[in-house]
Amino acid sequence: MSQTRRLSSSLEMTSTKAPPPRRGSELRRDRRGSGYSSGFSSRRPSIDPSRLIPMDKTTHVGGTDNFNVVFVGAGNIMFGSDEGPWNHSFRFEHKLGLRLKVVAIIDPAIERANAALKKKCDSFVVSAYQNTRVYKTLEDFVKHMTEKERPRAIVVGSPPMFRGTLQSGRDVEMQIMRYFPGVALFIEKPIATGPKGEIEEAFKIAKLISESNSICSVGYMLRYLKAVQKMKQIIQENDLVVMATIARYACAYEAITKPDWWDKSKSAGPIIEQGTHFCDLSRYFGGEVDISSVTAHSLEWDEEAGHLSKIHIDENKIAPENRIPRATAATWKYDSGAVGSLMHVVTLQGRNYSCELEVHADGYSLKLVNPYVQPVLYVRKPGDDYEQTFTFPDDDPFFSEVSNWIDIIEDIEEDPEAAQILSTYEDACRTYEFTWAIREASERSRSKSLATRRAATTVVQEPVPEEENEA
Ligand SMILES: NC(=O)c1ccc[n+]([C@@H]2O[C@H](COP(=O)([O-])OP(=O)(O)OC[C@H]3O[C@@H](n4cnc5c(N)ncnc54)[C@H](O)[C@@H]3O)[C@@H](O)[C@H]2O)c1
Repeated sequence: MSQTRRLSSSLEMTSTKAPPPRRGSELRRDRRGSGYSSGFSSRRPSIDPSRLIPMDKTTHVGGTDNFNVVFVGAGNIMFGSDEGPWNHSFRFEHKLGLRLKVVAIIDPAIERANAALKKKCDSFVVSAYQNTRVYKTLEDFVKHMTEKERPRAIVVGSPPMFRGTLQSGRDVEMQIMRYFPGVALFIEKPIATGPKGEIEEAFKIAKLISESNSICSVGYMLRYLKAVQKMKQIIQENDLVVMATIARYACAYEAITKPDWWDKSKSAGPIIEQGTHFCDLSRYFGGEVDISSVTAHSLEWDEEAGHLSKIHIDENKIAPENRIPRATAATWKYDSGAVGSLMHVVTLQGRNYSCELEVHADGYSLKLVNPYVQPVLYVRKPGDDYEQTFTFPDDDPFFSEVSNWIDIIEDIEEDPEAAQILSTYEDACRTYEFTWAIREASERSRSKSLATRRAATTVVQEPVPEEENEA
């Protein structure tokens, strides 16, 4: 790991206290992200926030040997779009410099993949892409691969409906482990969007990934925000016990133009596809959720308050039962006894999301505001009735998550402050299970209120017996 990474810090306000030492055995397991059964705890792995360095202030990793990477999926997350700041290829180029060799792009939409590849080959990063080949399937790549092209790492950014199961065609993780046992894996969130009954398959995959000893990271990039790591630092340094988490996620629906996102049969709905980021952060601070305690209510598209005026897709093409809720309000208990809540709304127009996460502990409130656009952290501590404000200019969690993963692949040293995987596949399975529990709880309460309404209507419309009429 470069010296620059060790020394620089762009936190505007940092604590002078050194973080408490972490135990080596825990560290070894957590760092690689292949540990299974992390158990319940809000003491999840963390990184000193001063070690999260923006892309323009870091140097790419050292060495001269090629670093072969396969990209699965050639869409927005991999090559960028107007929808947001994500673009994995860009971060890989900066992190690995001339060492990056994208040996293959796997995408059934060959034309889309070729178009992305052409753009790269026409640019100054051509050295990473000049020998890249595009294949429809991983199997095709394996058939044609030379030993020199064997990947060191595979990045999976295909739609979650095509992964996270043991079923043929939706089992890319299993295929990867079969062809390239132990290869480092980066997998986008959510880990799946199939029917709820398939969650067990995802947990089986988690176990197999763990047993393969793969360095596996899941793309819950908000865990890598400096602000989030600052919150972790405050909790650890002051030995706090989290008592409550309050999450509010307001997305800018006008900018969401992917028809699948609006269709629960494709993307599984906004909590599983999008609110998942805040459900994951809630778990990161609150610990494991008592799934049986989850309750939720939703405002649906066909209710009086559910009308949206600026949807840029044709919702009429989506079956009524698959249209997404406009608002979901959920509450739950953590195994520790703490409580949590989430309010997810599909209400904002324009482009910027408005999201906030509060974490409460005895004497402390940590409030993360605007994590997607310009994160600000408000901290209230004992002995002060006013909040302290922390800002984090130029923070790039998308770079930090990739950068950390590569540092671990490259540098397996036993440094207690070295990079760590913050979201393992198993941990991500638990977030997935939690988001499904919220969706199911909201659907249960909707069915109940529809049934109550139907019963009330039936009573009102019940015909008056003839005898009574005559009287
Ligand atoms: N962390 C974030 O903030 C963030 C942001 C955007 C997307 N994502 C995640 O990234 C994933 C992909 O999203 P996206 O916006 O890039 O989607 P996208 O629709 O833009 O791109 C997906 C690509 O995968 C291809 N594909 C389909 N089936 C495939 C298969 N079986 N194998 C390989 N490729 C296949 C499609 O042809 C398409 O080109 C999703 O899980 C999404 O939630 C995360």
